[in-house]
This record gives sequence, C-alpha cells and structure tokens, in this order.
Amino acid sequence: VIDIGSGKGYLSSFLSMQYNLKVYGIDSSNTNTDGAHERNRKLKKHWRAYQSRGRANLKSQRLEKANDRPVESEIKCKAINEKPLNNGSGLQSRDQVTIQDSVPASGFTEMATSETSKHTEVDLVAQTQSHESKLSEEVLNILNVLPADAVEAFSSSQCNCGELCEEEKAQRKMASLKAKASKSSESNLYFPLTSCITAETELSDIITDLEDCMMVGLHTCGDLAANTLRIFTAKPEIKAVCSVGCCYHLLSEQFENQEDCPEEAWGFPMCQYLKDKGWCCGRNARMSACLALERVAVGQMLPTESLFYRAVLQVIIEEIYGVTKSDRHVGKTFSKSSSFIDYVRKSLKKLELDDSKLPDSCIMDYYEKYKHRMNELEAFNMLKVVLAPCIEVLILLDRLCYLKEQDNIAWSGLVKLFDPVKSPRCYAVIALKKQPC
Ligand SMILES: C[S@@+](CC[C@H](N)C(=O)[O-])C[C@H]1O[C@@H](n2cnc3c(N)ncnc32)[C@H](O)[C@@H]1O
Repeated sequence: VIDIGSGKGYLSSFLSMQYNLKVYGIDSSNTNTDGAHERNRKLKKHWRAYQSRGRANLKSQRLEKANDRPVESEIKCKAINEKPLNNGSGLQSRDQVTIQDSVPASGFTEMATSETSKHTEVDLVAQTQSHESKLSEEVLNILNVLPADAVEAFSSSQCNCGELCEEEKAQRKMASLKAKASKSSESNLYFPLTSCITAETELSDIITDLEDCMMVGLHTCGDLAANTLRIFTAKPEIKAVCSVGCCYHLLSEQFENQEDCPEEAWGFPMCQYLKDKGWCCGRNARMSACLALERVAVGQMLPTESLFYRAVLQVIIEEIYGVTKSDRHVGKTFSKSSSFIDYVRKSLKKLELDDSKLPDSCIMDYYEKYKHRMNELEAFNMLKVVLAPCIEVLILLDRLCYLKEQDNIAWSGLVKLFDPVKSPRCYAVIALKKQPC
C-alpha cells in the first residue's frame, strides 16, 4: 500500500499493523516523516496489548450482533437485491456504464452506509464464527459497497455476499493460518518517506522495490488528490486507489485566471468533459465546498464571529489602505487574537500594511458600524453551507469522470466512508484497474 500525503502516519501504521501490510507512507513534510517514525516506534511497543484488547471488543460485539441476526437477515436480502452494489454483470467497463449508473445517488450512499453496513455485520458474523478472518468489519464494509464482481477480483470468491461456500471457507482459513504463522518481526512493515508528490512523480524513484500495490490518500489536500488519481492511471503497478480529498480551496484551477496552460496538471477540472466546457468554480466556491453541512444540521455553530472579523477587516483595508487584492493571507489570526483590535493589528502586519497611524478608536468605529449586520453574515454563511455539497460533489464527480474517461479502469465509484458529522470530508473516490490480458 502506498499512502500519499501520509502525515504522521495514522492511516499507514494502522493498515500496516492491523492487516499486516507493507505500507509506504509518503509525505512532503520532513517533520511529519520524523513524527511518523517516532509514533511508529511507540506503537510497535504497545501494539500487542492494543490487539488483544481489540479482539476482546470484537468478540463481545459479535455476541451482541448474533442476537440481532433475524432482523439483519432481512436487511441482507434487501441489500443483495439492490442493483448498483451487486449487479452480477461482471466488472463494468467505462463503455458499459454511465456516470449516473455507478456514482451513488444519495439513495445509494445512504444504503452504502446504513443498510450495507448492517448487511456487512451479518457477513462478518458468518465468517468470523467459522474462522479467524484477517478481514475486519471495516474492510468488509468497503468490499460490500463495491460491485460483487469487483470484490471477486480481490478475493477470488465465487460466492455471493454472505454465503461463503465450503471451499472458500477452507481457503480463507488456510490463508488466515498462514498469515498468523508469518507474523514475525518482519511483519507490520511501515516505511515513512519524505517526498513532494506531483503529477509527474515517478514512484519507482522513491520506492525502489515498487511492485503491485494500491494507493490510498486520506485527506489529501488540494491538487494532491487529483495527482494521486493521475499517478494511479499512469502506473500499471498500481491496481487500485482509494482517495479522500480535502482543502478544496487549495486546488489549482485551469480556467480561474484565463491562463493558457492546457497541458499543465490542474487540480480542477480533471475530466475532458468539464475541460471542454471551460468550467470554473472560483476560490470562494471552493472555500464553501470545505464547509460541513451535516455538522451545522446537528447544531454545531458556524464560525460567524471570525467571519465577521474578517469581513470588517476587508472594509478597513479597502477604505483606509486602498488595497483590494493581495497575495498575502491573514490565515488563522482569529484564534490567536484577544480582541478585534488585536485581530486587526496582527492581520495588518501579516498583510504588510502599516498600522502605526491607525488608532484603536478608528478600528472600533468600524466594528460598531457593522456589528448590527452580523446576522446578515450568518444568513449568508448558512446559504453557503447549504450549497456546499453541490460544489464538493462537482469536484468529486470531476475526479470520477476523469477515471471513467480512462481505458484501463475496470470499476470506479464514489463511496461514502465516514459519518460526515465526525469527518465532513467523507467521500472516497475508489477505482480498480483492469487486469492485464
Ligand atoms: C490533511 S493532511 C492528512 C495527513 C494524513 N493522511 C492523515 O489523515 O492524518 C495532508 C498531508 O499531505 C501532505 N502533503 C501535501 N501536499 C503534498 C504533496 N504534494 N506531496 C506529499 N505530501 C503532501 C501534507 O504535508 C500533510 O501531511
């Protein structure tokens, strides 16, 4: 597994230790790589204790689930009958499906996270009761979201979800025993590496023993998510990809500044379909795409005050300094400021504007002048939050469409992996390569 933008290695070390996989974590920051090494060292020390605790938890969960089985069996039947998940038509090629066919509509994603997760639990009970499978609930959750035949490509299973044939059970048991036996000091291999990944990156320059693998990326910011997909499509060794992006405001946009560099690997748009239309989101829309509608829907507040501070600051820098555009950023000044005055002064320093002739009273006059309009700002922000999913989905569909346009992809889709309240960037772009003939 190659974990792109691995940060401190939370995902890499988990994949490596939990599933005994060889994982390369690549991050552009040396500090992160050092942190990952240190964390990895500590984790290894305590891993066995974590594992036995985890096994005990799983056992008690299994017992609870076994009591719920009749209800879940009904759900399982329903899930099996649902089309997009198990259509039984073999791996869908680009020519066989339209985007709408395989991109989950809201119904599909809902099912993927609710019904099929229950469905998965039933499968898990069936499997883990008969043998110690290395596949955990999380893995099965994902496998069940993929079309049945896509899962087959990985597991060689000839059985329909849930109902494992005897031969399959025996094979899995054998594989599990072998895996256990091979757990030695060699296991849990995780290699944190430092490199800045671009669309042109030659992975074999970084990983000298590059072999058949899959790429993952969790919260790969800006263009990194787009470039992960580009590397995936270009490299025959990479058989699958699972990419969850974030920080859409950092995306480079081909049509934002009317720049004429069509060959450049822009973050947006990726697909020919939107390129032909010269599609542009703009920074404001991409900023909105980072908002978290589901969190607001459960009562978590929007950061209206910090936005209000920023809006009034904008008026100050335009009216007093005559500045309408700047390459510099205010950044996270709000959280580090003790008052509005403090915020304005810190921000002006960051923007390299002289605040020495600006009295506190003048700053406070601006604050008072606009204070009563804070509710307008809140309403505007609410509107942005409501529209945010449209923009996020546009960006994600562009990535998916790019994959659909490639000839070497067997299956691709958007899969809701996380609870958006816990983790707002919850959609993964997943794709599987065609097997070479
Ligand atoms: C939001 S963090 C996610 C970290 C990690 N995947 C996680 O979930 O904890 C994004 C990471 O991508 C790294 N990154 C950003 N651009 C990169 C690039 N071009 N090549 C490699 N790493 C990059 C950053 O250093 C950062 O650690």
